[in-house]
Amino acid sequence: MKSYRVAIVGCGRMAGSIDDEVVGYPAITLPYSHAASYANVPQMETVACADINPQALERFGRRWGVDGRYTDYREMIRVEKPDILSVTTGAPLHAEIVTFAAENGVPAIYCEKPMACSLVECDAMVEAVERHGVHFNLGTSRRYDPGCDQIRRLIEEGVLGQVQTIVAYRTGNLLHTGSHFFDLLLFFAGDAEAEFVQGSLDSDRCDLSANRSEVDLAGTAYIRFWNGMRAYALQSPLTADFEVIGDAGTARLMNNGIHWGLRVTKEQYGKNRILLPEPFPEFERKSPTVRCIEDLVHALETGDRTRGNARVARAGTELALAVVESHRQGGARVPLPMANRALYMKSK
Ligand SMILES: NC(=O)c1ccc[n+]([C@@H]2O[C@H](COP(=O)([O-])OP(=O)(O)OC[C@H]3O[C@@H](n4cnc5c(N)ncnc54)[C@H](O)[C@@H]3O)[C@@H](O)[C@H]2O)c1
Repeated sequence: MKSYRVAIVGCGRMAGSIDDEVVGYPAITLPYSHAASYANVPQMETVACADINPQALERFGRRWGVDGRYTDYREMIRVEKPDILSVTTGAPLHAEIVTFAAENGVPAIYCEKPMACSLVECDAMVEAVERHGVHFNLGTSRRYDPGCDQIRRLIEEGVLGQVQTIVAYRTGNLLHTGSHFFDLLLFFAGDAEAEFVQGSLDSDRCDLSANRSEVDLAGTAYIRFWNGMRAYALQSPLTADFEVIGDAGTARLMNNGIHWGLRVTKEQYGKNRILLPEPFPEFERKSPTVRCIEDLVHALETGDRTRGNARVARAGTELALAVVESHRQGGARVPLPMANRALYMKSK
């Protein structure tokens, strides 16, 4: 079996310590961090890590037994020539690092969400990974969750009938948290192309006059897809809840994936339906981070497209940024692809 050399840039929580924060929380199937997940996949050897913070570098290197430690990620990539690079810094650096890695021979990249802070950055990432034939996955975890696969199967097998409406019951900050939810709306919509987004930010007191926000803003969205589906991304105190509604039934992800639900039409009175609960199809829980890595390995070995490839990743980011653009335009429908590629929203 071929083994893979892994390098990680950004040695913080998602790189190596986030598992400690979620022990006992049933929504998360461990391992969660990149390092813990690579340690669970037999073909993987994490050979190097990079961080500008020497303490973070040392702590991570010691915990995960990684001897190749660098304060300059460029040097790490040139010297170590990794097969897979994890990008676990904050979003403002993702475009720079991914582009450098693609141009310097890294064949597979696992980049954390959000993809970037503007569509100019996303475009550069898509261009670089496609030009160099790099396999790319974005860390929007729920796309790799086996429970979400079951919902997509229910849609594809027609159990829900004609799906017309998908609801996300939370967006949070549009890039940091919303990136997860916009990506999952897209996944449930079969990665269809969106026609337009109409959005509203939670606060009217945000200055977008320079086509830039220094804070990751929160808001709600109405999205219409070319395949006829509509999606609503709402703001609520729920952690992560989704509903996919068809003309024969509905499927729900509840409590951030602890609970799952299915209701199907049992009786019909004219146009009025009565939907009753059915058991949600069984599935085996598995770490989405591990599944994301396995998907990258599969792509390396077969040449198949990755599940969270750069185009899909950009499409989700575009939905989030289009909410800001719609607000900026007084609530107008923003046709996609969005013309304002330079709109920048900083996310941590
Ligand atoms: N998928 C998920 O569920 C999930 C969960 C948490 C975080 N994340 C994402 O992971 C990313 C990191 O978040 P975090 O909470 O781990 O942040 P963090 O602050 O804990 O870690 C980021 C690390 O990057 C380092 N860094 C900064 N500039 C660098 C540079 N030029 N070169 C090398 N290292 C540099 C910092 O020193 C820090 O150690 C974010 O994009 C975040 O959205 C994803």
